[in-house]
Amino acid sequence: RHIVYMESTASTNEVAKELARKGAEEGSIVVAEEQRSGRGRLQRGFYSPFAKGIWFSLILRPDFFPMEASKSTLLAAVGVCRAVRSLGLPNAAIKWPNDIMVNGRKLVGILTELSASMEKIDYIIMGIGINTGMERADFPEAFREGATSFRAEGVHVSRKTLLAAVLSELEKEYAVAETEGFARVLDNWRNLSCTLGQSVRVVLGTNSYTGKAVDIDKDGCLLVDTGNEVNRVIAGDVSIRP
Ligand code: BTN
Repeated sequence: RHIVYMESTASTNEVAKELARKGAEEGSIVVAEEQRSGRGRLQRGFYSPFAKGIWFSLILRPDFFPMEASKSTLLAAVGVCRAVRSLGLPNAAIKWPNDIMVNGRKLVGILTELSASMEKIDYIIMGIGINTGMERADFPEAFREGATSFRAEGVHVSRKTLLAAVLSELEKEYAVAETEGFARVLDNWRNLSCTLGQSVRVVLGTNSYTGKAVDIDKDGCLLVDTGNEVNRVIAGDVSIRP
């Protein structure tokens, strides 16, 4: 596969997009030691300090079925969660839609972006950030309580081994989608999730409500039972209530 390695860049998703536009093949990745303005979901930033994690973007060109961005995000979460579990964090679990949590703190963020015309998907950029080397005190105060890393959890991991494991698990899950259908990926997601069955608060802009996360549907939307009705949550933030 084509691998682009960078000491420092603004955001690997941006570099990958540029490459994809120029025709880079499926499976190409861009990985950086540091991102100066790493991007997260919902217009947020993503803290990506030098050599303290794996910050990378994978270019996909799925043509075997129209796989939307939300679906590839769920698929990515399954693959990454498996890799993380296998390398010493067996408690890792997926918080809907795409954070990997360890003991209630966020270890991994995933940002999937897509470029498509009416007829077909041109490319998908799967951006994945995994915290490895930060001590708890290294995280900016604003999210210190909510974030973690392999090191902060007391687990030593080689970034090389971790990246290889993640890529291999992603490939496996991609093959599952291709051969067995996306429903199978959803089942795998359900089994790795820490959101389903929990009381949650759904935050949509300035609005919020609480309910019980009962399932995800075939498109990956979260189904939240408020007692009166079951809401389908497409995007937004969900916090698990203690
Ligand atoms: C989130 O948690 O909101 C998503 C974070 C995604 C971070 C990764 S790191 C590699 C890639 N490049 C970016 O700018 N963002 C993603």
